[in-house]
Amino acid sequence: MGASAGSVAPPAAVLVLGGSGFLGAHLARAFAARSKQEPGGVLVHAASRSPGPIAPGAQFHAFDASLPGALPALLDALAPSLVLNACAHARLAECERAPELAELLNADLPGRLAVECRRRGARLVQVSTDLVFGNGAPQRGWREDDRAEPLSVYGRTKLAGEQRVLEAGGDALVVRLPLLYGDSFGRELGASDALHAALARGERPRLYVDELRTPLEVSLAAELVRELARGTQRGLLHVAGPRRLSRHELGLELLAAGGIEPAAARARLDAVPRSCDAFAALRPADAALDTTRARELGLYDALGGFEALHMRGLERAARRP
Ligand SMILES: NC(=O)c1ccc[n+]([C@@H]2O[C@H](COP(=O)([O-])OP(=O)(O)OC[C@H]3O[C@@H](n4cnc5c(N)ncnc54)[C@H](OP(=O)(O)O)[C@@H]3O)[C@@H](O)[C@H]2O)c1
Repeated sequence: MGASAGSVAPPAAVLVLGGSGFLGAHLARAFAARSKQEPGGVLVHAASRSPGPIAPGAQFHAFDASLPGALPALLDALAPSLVLNACAHARLAECERAPELAELLNADLPGRLAVECRRRGARLVQVSTDLVFGNGAPQRGWREDDRAEPLSVYGRTKLAGEQRVLEAGGDALVVRLPLLYGDSFGRELGASDALHAALARGERPRLYVDELRTPLEVSLAAELVRELARGTQRGLLHVAGPRRLSRHELGLELLAAGGIEPAAARARLDAVPRSCDAFAALRPADAALDTTRARELGLYDALGGFEALHMRGLERAARRP
């Protein structure tokens, strides 16, 4: 990463909360894969209720964030100098059905975590989402200082979590990520594995043509978050892919990356307006993120540059028929 983002000595112990999740499993892998390259090495801990696809080199710790006292006990036991919080109630529809749980995991947990980290002198990276934004997107994409007006319980609770982390005033960075796709280790999580699984079942997946995101492949997202976590940047930062794409366009590009001809790819996907979806009104029609600030920090340089992220991501997520 560029010099302006700063650099510090590597942490001796890194804790990934939500380490079994779609993103969290990749975060644990990103740290574990490079741990021996760090002077003195790094212990990588992953905590969640279930182990998930444990990263080679990472240690799993059973942790239920809803249990009183569980968070300080975990922090006491592991004494991490860096915590990444990818623990969340992260499904939009489930958050509408269980708003109290969404509040607990998405807002209350990050707030308590930020206070604990500040007290212990640990750095915190809180993962958030493009779905904190509402309607009326600017053509340039949403910037960090644009007003977030969430449309859903998910977006509202994630925004509250961001605010509580930033208000706690410690060494904390909130990273807003876009729609993620890529390998979920056979669990059909994320935008591409769910698509490939539906195609494998012989279905013709319905993909929206009029809902825009700036998608990012999940292992690249994890590497970028790792870079940021090792730096000194604080506050709020948008990290996303270089293309503003609909779900349908992303689907076509994923199939093309897997060697499927454009006409055949179109035939396999059902292009629909988002009005077909009962939850469409809970997401902005355009959640594209502006990543100027991250680019100015030189964040994408180590991965071959911002524009290269798109093809690299598609290549990592591609499935050959
Ligand atoms: N996926 C995306 O496209 C996307 C896009 C933008 C931002 N994000 C953000 O990225 C983060 C991770 O999302 P994700 O897609 O990886 O979600 P996910 O796959 O649902 O993972 C959520 C994680 O939280 C853990 N968790 C849930 N309830 C818990 C509890 N009571 N105690 C302890 N752990 C608990 C889960 O593990 P157990 O169930 O094993 O406990 C899991 O490890 C979230 O902050 C989300 O807002 C995701």
